[in-house]
Amino acid sequence: MSSPDRFLNVGLLGCGTIGSGVYHLVKKNKKELERACGMPVGISRILVKDPDEPRPFPVDKKFLSTNSEEILSDEKIDVFIEVMGGIEPARTFCLKALKSGKHLITANKELLARHGQEIMEAAAENDSIVMFEASVGGGIPIICPLESSMGGDRIKKIMGIVNGTTNYVLSNMSSSGSDFHSALHEAQKLGYAEANPQADIEGSDAASKLAILCSVAFQVGMSGEQVYREGINFIRPADLANAAEMGYATKLLAIAERDGEEISARVHPTMIPLDHPLAAVSGNFNAIFVVGESVGELMFYGEGAGSLPTATAILGDVVKISRNIKDPSVFRRPYWSNPCRVKSVDELTTKFYMVLEVIDRPGVLAKIAKVFGENKVSLESVVQKGLGGEAEIVLITHEVVEKNFQAARSELLGLDVVKDIPSVIRVESTEAYEGQR
Ligand SMILES: NC(=O)c1ccc[n+]([C@@H]2O[C@H](COP(=O)([O-])OP(=O)(O)OC[C@H]3O[C@@H](n4cnc5c(N)ncnc54)[C@H](OP(=O)(O)O)[C@@H]3O)[C@@H](O)[C@H]2O)c1
Repeated sequence: MSSPDRFLNVGLLGCGTIGSGVYHLVKKNKKELERACGMPVGISRILVKDPDEPRPFPVDKKFLSTNSEEILSDEKIDVFIEVMGGIEPARTFCLKALKSGKHLITANKELLARHGQEIMEAAAENDSIVMFEASVGGGIPIICPLESSMGGDRIKKIMGIVNGTTNYVLSNMSSSGSDFHSALHEAQKLGYAEANPQADIEGSDAASKLAILCSVAFQVGMSGEQVYREGINFIRPADLANAAEMGYATKLLAIAERDGEEISARVHPTMIPLDHPLAAVSGNFNAIFVVGESVGELMFYGEGAGSLPTATAILGDVVKISRNIKDPSVFRRPYWSNPCRVKSVDELTTKFYMVLEVIDRPGVLAKIAKVFGENKVSLESVVQKGLGGEAEIVLITHEVVEKNFQAARSELLGLDVVKDIPSVIRVESTEAYEGQR
């Protein structure tokens, strides 16, 4: 590795939305970066698939190459920034860089949520540093606060809006009353949703990010597959209107909690009281609400994606690497090899919002109440809305064990008076954290 005392030599793996933003900021903020790093920083090699591809920010073509072997074996490079995305060949390239003693910065949540342990082990074996601030929350600093600023506290709970696409879609549906497909189409037109938005709307992007947050906050190795998830495609405009009437905003939340040696981790649409700070996070913004045993409640808010916000998070990692380059052990993460005991969603306790389409005749409510009672589900509020010969019952339960609620739901669907249950959404109760200080 070249002497970091004189120059920090960076290799970019990928130069699309984020990579070209990094290139742009390294040039534009040269002085600020040099001051923060204590040494000049320069990008000397850039790996791409097609050098003629148009890029969001102009890049000098002399740096571009399609030869991964040549770039990865360049002795002069100190730090690789992986902004290619996907699992392969990103995984192979990252491991190769670490095995040759290079430091690594990655924005790739999918890779870390699936192969984080392998990557951290390779870094430890080769005295390399891995940084990944941009992998969760785009430009929002969250990994560093969890790792360093809150390093002396015990983190109890994390609740995040970590996917801008779904937040935009739900916000648009709430404000305009449009249905899911129209709101998604609008998000695609504005560039807030990918042409293939599957990973966003099904919750798997948020699940990868939650797995990374859990690993750092709870010092375990968690994978995205261990996170329970539900997407937002079943949400109806009527549910959002009902939620608002009852004093709630509906968000796709990534929620994780520590319970002794076990962790619960889930991503699903959630109704959250309008006076909770997360309820006000709208459009494509992200926010991560963290509860620390001693520090209490904190919220981190900002642009969760986009070229320059995300590139800024990457430059922050460049600064940290340059400052710690003489003591890489600071950023070893042996905890990523710790197995993680994740609670089954069946064991979790939450409130539920449910809509039942029923036949409008006497005795219906009694039949429904009987099913709830037999399954130990008690009700916080019930509203009946008449629709001619049919009616809609909108209810919210008290806190209930998931398994009991799901048993009641199945039984209700079997009743002759229940035509359908079009909506079930979990409701987050948010008593202010009293602390264990
Ligand atoms: N976009 C965001 O707002 C955002 C926010 C946070 C994190 N991230 C993460 O950042 C990473 C990059 O995202 P992005 O939006 O910048 O992606 P992108 O615009 O698709 O850029 C990907 C880049 O990687 C290059 N590349 C892909 N496969 C390659 C291969 N096999 N060999 C060589 N080069 C290859 C592409 O080359 P060509 O240009 O030649 O095609 C392109 O320059 C992803 O992990 C993503 O999840 C993105």
